[in-house]
Amino acid sequence: MNKPIELSDELHFRCGVTSKNRMALAALTNQQSGDDGFLSEDEARWLERRAQGGFGIITTCAAYVSADGKGFDGQLGVASEEQGGRTESLARAISAAGALGLVQLYHGGVRSPARLTGVQPKSASAFSSTEENFEPPRALTSTEIPAVQQDFVEAAKRVVAHGFSGVELHAAHGYLLSQFLSSTMNTRADGYGGSAAARYRFVGEIVRATRSAIPKAVLGVRISPEDFGYARGLDLHDSLEVASRLAEDGADYVHISLWDIKRLTKKEPTRHPIPMFRAALPPEVPLIVAGAIGTRETAEMALGLGADMVAIGRAAIINPDWAKNVLTAGWVPDQPPLTPEQYLERAVSPTFINYLRRFKGMVG
Ligand SMILES: Cc1cc2nc3c(=O)[nH]c(=O)nc-3n(C[C@H](O)[C@H](O)[C@H](O)COP(=O)(O)O)c2cc1C
Repeated sequence: MNKPIELSDELHFRCGVTSKNRMALAALTNQQSGDDGFLSEDEARWLERRAQGGFGIITTCAAYVSADGKGFDGQLGVASEEQGGRTESLARAISAAGALGLVQLYHGGVRSPARLTGVQPKSASAFSSTEENFEPPRALTSTEIPAVQQDFVEAAKRVVAHGFSGVELHAAHGYLLSQFLSSTMNTRADGYGGSAAARYRFVGEIVRATRSAIPKAVLGVRISPEDFGYARGLDLHDSLEVASRLAEDGADYVHISLWDIKRLTKKEPTRHPIPMFRAALPPEVPLIVAGAIGTRETAEMALGLGADMVAIGRAAIINPDWAKNVLTAGWVPDQPPLTPEQYLERAVSPTFINYLRRFKGMVG
């Protein structure tokens, strides 16, 4: 019998980089960057504080790789040398705290409104929706595709050159990469749409090119296994295939965004997604999972089901030292809601607190 994995165990990635434990800060949009996409002191402080709090991996918020891919007010950008350069001291501080810093690379696609980018949103295909304030996207042309892919590769090279340990490609939650994987948002007929394999091609080519560009840095990919929120047109079995293709194409880890790790899959309501994704991946490619993990018990349940690492979102906003404290017997994490004053004490600025008001029960 293999010894069970402990949260405190190291995790080795096949690129040669090691995380000191099995606990990651999940990517969390916080709107603290300037309108120009430059990292702010508030945003750096929020992440450094969690690095000091013991997490093995600190993932930045979704950071846009090109100006037309911006999706949020106050979003971090890594689309230019100037923007990338601003992140260098953060990368250094995260490493100094003993954590791996990963930048989550993002393009919003249909979720990049003209208000922020000045141009019509682009997606895998043109489509309409009854959603409020929906801006119909145009399809990326076949000749535009390589440049959009290259934006991801360049951003990866840039942030690694500025001291980050690697990147996580954001292929979850219905943003551009997820739009290409989607059977409803991708109806292309040029080899990038149609079958599940063709819908994967856009992402796969980015993964392979990024792998060659940053061979010694961490290259992870986050996906949504099934429809949830803006992530639509995703089939569980297609997503399992995506996971195994990502491993073949050189990803160091696959991260599944579950929102609640206690939930079974929608498509096969008697089965849990974690063992299914673990089985889809070769042993040398770790599976990271996120979704309502707030306690040691839940985190260990995830590992017991086959996850290799847990990613913590809301519990880490509330408990900056979650990773340091969770293994202490009798430690009870603080629970939401917190008051604005309590957030300020936890290196969460008023701007981030305002954004958190959109998430039910977070701010009291
Ligand atoms: C305020 C907030 C911002 C988020 N921003 C991102 C993001 O930038 N990228 C991403 O992949 N997921 C994002 N998520 C999803 C989280 O990474 C995580 O998967 C989700 O919150 C579930 O984990 P939790 O229950 O531990 O919070 C965000 C979630 C929250 C609450």
